[in-house]
Amino acid sequence: MKLRVGLIGCGKIARMHAHGFQTASDLAEVVVCCDEREEIAQAMALSLGSAKAATRWQDVVEREDIDVVDVCLPHYLHAPVVIAAAQAKKHVLVEKPFATNLAEAIAMVNAADQAGTVLMVGQHQRYGSDHRHIKALLDRGVIGRVLAVRVDSNQLLSDYYPSGHWLFSKAQAGGGIVISVAVHKIDLLRYLLGEIRRVASFQSISGLNVGMEGEDIAAISLEFENGTVGEGFFTFAARHRPIPITTYPFELFILYGEEGMIHNIQGWHVYSTKVKEYSNGPTRLDIPSQEYAEWFDYEIWHFLECIETRAEPISSGRDNLGTIAVLEAIYQSAKTGQVVGVPPHILEE
Ligand SMILES: NC(=O)c1ccc[n+]([C@@H]2O[C@H](COP(=O)([O-])OP(=O)(O)OC[C@H]3O[C@@H](n4cnc5c(N)ncnc54)[C@H](O)[C@@H]3O)[C@@H](O)[C@H]2O)c1
Repeated sequence: MKLRVGLIGCGKIARMHAHGFQTASDLAEVVVCCDEREEIAQAMALSLGSAKAATRWQDVVEREDIDVVDVCLPHYLHAPVVIAAAQAKKHVLVEKPFATNLAEAIAMVNAADQAGTVLMVGQHQRYGSDHRHIKALLDRGVIGRVLAVRVDSNQLLSDYYPSGHWLFSKAQAGGGIVISVAVHKIDLLRYLLGEIRRVASFQSISGLNVGMEGEDIAAISLEFENGTVGEGFFTFAARHRPIPITTYPFELFILYGEEGMIHNIQGWHVYSTKVKEYSNGPTRLDIPSQEYAEWFDYEIWHFLECIETRAEPISSGRDNLGTIAVLEAIYQSAKTGQVVGVPPHILEE
């Protein structure tokens, strides 16, 4: 029988999730679309055919005709909705960032553990064909031990969301660009390179995004458990993207290895001193590029498969405790001006 899904929050990203569930229509069906703005819930329900519309998430998580809850809400609502859904024995997919702090994230994982349900975080960057290809190269040791990594993400927030949107509110978003955007790369780097041990960060508010309360510029230094050194630069205050990245997500990514390097400037390239096919200078990788929506299609398919097989998702809530712990350390560093160790993320026995 198909899994029955309640989609909560029908804004921008929910459209990608709806597409994902439609693509996996042999496994699941969205039966209710919920948004506090009724017209948005109705429009989403209509676009999905037979789905019903609702305006209160509290009613949706309790519904007996639902197996799965998909949370596409502002960040401050992730924890209450996920915990209520888990307590109602629903499997849950929740958009990034998992939580606004580590205590919330731990409470969510404990709630799902107690219910025995699947809890996955929508860290879609783990699921794109580009990043899956890069992970396979790293796992094969094509560039040897990774010595250093550099990531860079730049956009103008006001190009995508109007001033006054919840993303401009520190209380509702839980911060600024770190929690909203850097979270993608922190999570991806943990997936590719392992755990992060220490961080340092400088942050500022540019004034270019009127009403923005959280940081919209952040420089972050990272030290991984395995000794890799990393640097990330994130800005919501870029008038233009200066670096020519040809494929989504249009963010600079450079890995420096003992035996070569990988970068995505004007396409993904690899150079390796030890793998013959990549040893003749930087070689452009032939990775079929994917549309934005397709990254989510694979994420949602993986989530549904994990429910079916009871496997731990690649981006499970449990795994994501590490990502939220790093974010917490980054904010602590910016506040104190100190290098900060990533806090332990302890679960109930
Ligand atoms: N993976 C990605 O690349 C990506 C991109 C954008 C956003 N996101 C994440 O997706 C989530 C949602 O972001 P978005 O851009 O879709 O925001 P959005 O503002 O477009 O959508 C959020 C929706 O939630 C609804 N809502 C707010 N409070 C509600 C409540 N109490 N009950 C019911 N509905 C409520 C709003 O009316 C709105 O339609 C966030 O966690 C965000 O970080 C992820």
